[in-house]
Amino acid sequence: DGLPLVKYCGCWLLVMLFRPIIAAQNHFKAKDTDIILTTMPKSGTTWLKALTFSIANRNVFPIDQSPLLTSNPHMLVPFLELNIYKEQDNPDLETIPSPRIFSTHMHFKMLPDSIRETDCRIIYICRNPLDQLVSHIHFSSQNNFGKDADPVAIDEAFDMFCQGINSFGPFWDHVLGYWNAHLENPGKVLFLKYEDLKEDITSQVKKIAEFMGFPFSLEEEEQGMIDQISGLCSFESLSNLTVNKRGDINGILKNSSFFRKGQVGDWTNYLTPAMAERIKKLMDSKFEGSGLMFNT
Ligand code: A3P
Repeated sequence: DGLPLVKYCGCWLLVMLFRPIIAAQNHFKAKDTDIILTTMPKSGTTWLKALTFSIANRNVFPIDQSPLLTSNPHMLVPFLELNIYKEQDNPDLETIPSPRIFSTHMHFKMLPDSIRETDCRIIYICRNPLDQLVSHIHFSSQNNFGKDADPVAIDEAFDMFCQGINSFGPFWDHVLGYWNAHLENPGKVLFLKYEDLKEDITSQVKKIAEFMGFPFSLEEEEQGMIDQISGLCSFESLSNLTVNKRGDINGILKNSSFFRKGQVGDWTNYLTPAMAERIKKLMDSKFEGSGLMFNT
């Protein structure tokens, strides 16, 4: 982002998020019914928020009256480290009806203990590193991060990414942390890929709903509920809503900056084949033996 980073527990964090993250670690008390969405930035967080909110609330709001039509997904599903936690516990959290859904960019090992210790469920979504990097570079240029931020050239951002120095990097540590947690306890951690959602949203929405403990009944399936939710949460639908074209989050992040292209493979327009090769080789070595790979 061109913003100063600090290394904490082997992870690079934006300096401005350091204290809020510590506060979340110290104060967040997860409930068994909570759903925690975890992501590297620019990996499909906004999409996953819209989908999980819609799945959990499908009997509360009819799709054509969904709060998503008038609120940015980040307002409905807050970031643990951004919107809620400042320095102390926030009593309003207790009043949020179950299932409470939160998101965070924290690495698995940084999560507040109560998330690991309770029966709450974690849904992780990641994205191929080339698209994630390109998406992040655009995101940074679309938002004005103020006087502390230097504009970052693609070459420089790429080089730092390869060294693991990027917001919530290293990328491979973030992904592997959740991948291993998923392998250890698949009932606790669902592991999703952005590309799989793009390829077959219906089966992924079904999988997410089952994991959340809100499976679709046969009747709902016959009524087209899955298609309705997928349609509402699609890039085309959300990016065209007035609420997502205007306004901002906390006066810093433009709502529109969360909706750019929403495609797989846009990296080919920005990274050279040599750059792509370097990242692919890096991932091959980092993910060797893990069973994890990305389609680009
Ligand atoms: P691009 O910059 O490649 O377009 P995050 O939500 O984690 O910040 O990630 C943002 C990326 O997800 C952006 O990618 C954005 O366009 C894309 N995105 C946002 N909403 C989406 C949706 N409903 N469906 C698919 N992609 C979406």
